[in-house]
Amino acid sequence: MQEAIDIQGARDLWVRPLSPACGAELGGIDLSRPLAAHEVRAIKDAWNEHIVLVFRGQKLSQDDQLRFAAYFGDLGSRKKAPEPLRARAEGIRQDHEKVLLVTNIKVDGNPIGAFGDGEFWFHIDSGYAPRPYKYTFLYALELPSRGGNTKFSNMYMAYDAVPAELKEKLKGKKALHIHEYNRAKQAKSWGDISGIPHHAHPVFVTHPDTGRKTLFVDRLMTTRIEGLDETESDAILNTLYELGERPDFIYEHVWQLGDFVMWDNRCTIHARTDFPKEERRLLRRCTVEGEPLYE
Ligand SMILES: [Fe+2]
Repeated sequence: MQEAIDIQGARDLWVRPLSPACGAELGGIDLSRPLAAHEVRAIKDAWNEHIVLVFRGQKLSQDDQLRFAAYFGDLGSRKKAPEPLRARAEGIRQDHEKVLLVTNIKVDGNPIGAFGDGEFWFHIDSGYAPRPYKYTFLYALELPSRGGNTKFSNMYMAYDAVPAELKEKLKGKKALHIHEYNRAKQAKSWGDISGIPHHAHPVFVTHPDTGRKTLFVDRLMTTRIEGLDETESDAILNTLYELGERPDFIYEHVWQLGDFVMWDNRCTIHARTDFPKEERRLLRRCTVEGEPLYE
């Protein structure tokens, strides 16, 4: 059901929840024009409530997108990948340090952006950094005929679903997140990880704006829970991943051209479904810089 957002001067704005888990479409606003403070506030309130916001049919230049994102904090710079992963993170058409092109498109064999191919496991954007991006903003420019959907999971719900005993056991515990995408090969992360960007965050994080507790681990980059032996850590992490990926906590976004989607990395994880390799997919990403996270 579509509801008007009752806020002075922003009466054209409406919000429509997209799933029982999270996600809402906002309409009645053109993001290519500068917004008034009360409009930004209305969007922020809806964001804190729904975690993932979708605006359809937007026409946004790179500058428009960056101007809009900057209403919500300092823009995040593209992070340099460690050497072995460098090829997948640098693109020849990325002309702004605040912008990353999420794409499989190549020109003369050179990727124009990054993170292009196929499926992507559930993750937090830059969860391995001491200050993971607060927010990510993604704008759809070219899409395959099918697939390449983005799944978002509500990690407040996942936290609430952690059994009381496990919550007690993990109180005060931190989990190590590393910039290494293949968990199957992560045995080495129990050894020397000095060459790989990494950071330990609390397993449970208090969202700085809403004050709600959220589960902060993901299958792609979380490696171990500090203070537990490997077997126990692996078993608990698997339980937590399964909770975080419970279908009833997930909204799956099927992209349309002109979609602008923004999400809060503190209380959601996201994943991409597979899509035909031979078809082009191009989305423009920017972020807002984060802050240290506390339990
Ligand atoms: Fe991502």
